[in-house]
Amino acid sequence: MQTLIDRFDRVHRDLRISLTDRCSLRCTYCMPEQGVPWLQKNTMLTTEELLRLASVAVSLGIDEVRLTGGEPLLRRDLVDVVAGMTALDPSPEVSMTTNALGLTKNAEALVAAGLTRVNVSLDTLNDDTFKKMARRDRFQDTLDGIKAAADAGLAPLKLNTVLLRGVNDHEAPDLLEFALEHGYELRFIEQMPLDAGHTWHRESMVTGQEIRDRLETRFELTPVPVRGNAPAEMFFVDGGPAKVGVIASVTSPFCGTCDRVRLTADGQLRNCLFAQNETDLRTPCAKAPATKSWRTCSAPASALSCLVTALTSLASCSQADR
Ligand code: 5AD
Ligand code: SF4
Repeated sequence: MQTLIDRFDRVHRDLRISLTDRCSLRCTYCMPEQGVPWLQKNTMLTTEELLRLASVAVSLGIDEVRLTGGEPLLRRDLVDVVAGMTALDPSPEVSMTTNALGLTKNAEALVAAGLTRVNVSLDTLNDDTFKKMARRDRFQDTLDGIKAAADAGLAPLKLNTVLLRGVNDHEAPDLLEFALEHGYELRFIEQMPLDAGHTWHRESMVTGQEIRDRLETRFELTPVPVRGNAPAEMFFVDGGPAKVGVIASVTSPFCGTCDRVRLTADGQLRNCLFAQNETDLRTPCAKAPATKSWRTCSAPASALSCLVTALTSLASCSQADR
């Protein structure tokens, strides 16, 4: 079994694949109201190409594939993508980060195809605040999607929350209460300067310490000792076993233990969320000899060498040596 070790001695096991750059919401911390110039359909990886690249990745030691977006549920053949990923040899764990809109329709089919876990964005329990933050009137649909995921057996169901100062930060304890009541695991993420509209300001970011302070107005938090590779610092709530996570990606970056790489919907490999450079894997993948089935296609040599080089050098990860 191969392992992907980069020049910072980090072992890479987690591949995040963006299935589309489009989204059904417009969260203010992520996208401008009018969206972004979307990728052209003909530049996006086909499902066959996606599965080819994933088969190369699992042969190199990737054992977890997380489907992301934009919003992965907007990809029409999502169920086939999940089924294809879980059929790889070795078979990776397949999970998804989603806004849950539309999960009522296909949560069960996704589970049948092999999806094991979802992380769902939920920033507020207030209808008006949802409209303000996501710029769409879809609060109830989001709650319905979360319930559908839980009913379909996707567990542990994780909720991701981004707090914005003066908008939803007062809701932190209520959100935790909601998660505890339903048996979901809530993680707060510091707002990162990643939004396409470049509206991030340090002053509006609610820090990990502030998040803990807000939660401690209602709950007792005690640190969970083992952190591992997970970016979240975990706390037992009121003595446990329930936990809450705080991902302080800005004030306390976890780059030193990061085990993730990312593939964009148009086949560009990014070594880091903040990467300035990308490595094109679509071209070598598309040039690989056509086969009747991606399953019989052994790793296309050129894609393999690009992937290995890109993964092991991680030249664009600027923060890992901190
Ligand atoms: N900062 C922090 N988290 C973000 N997300 C999206 N944009 C940002 C940002 N700027 C999170 C969302 C969602 C996941 C896709 O990423 O909360 O759960
Ligand atoms: Fe869509 Fe997620 Fe971005 Fe919100 S944070 S706009 S749900 S991709």
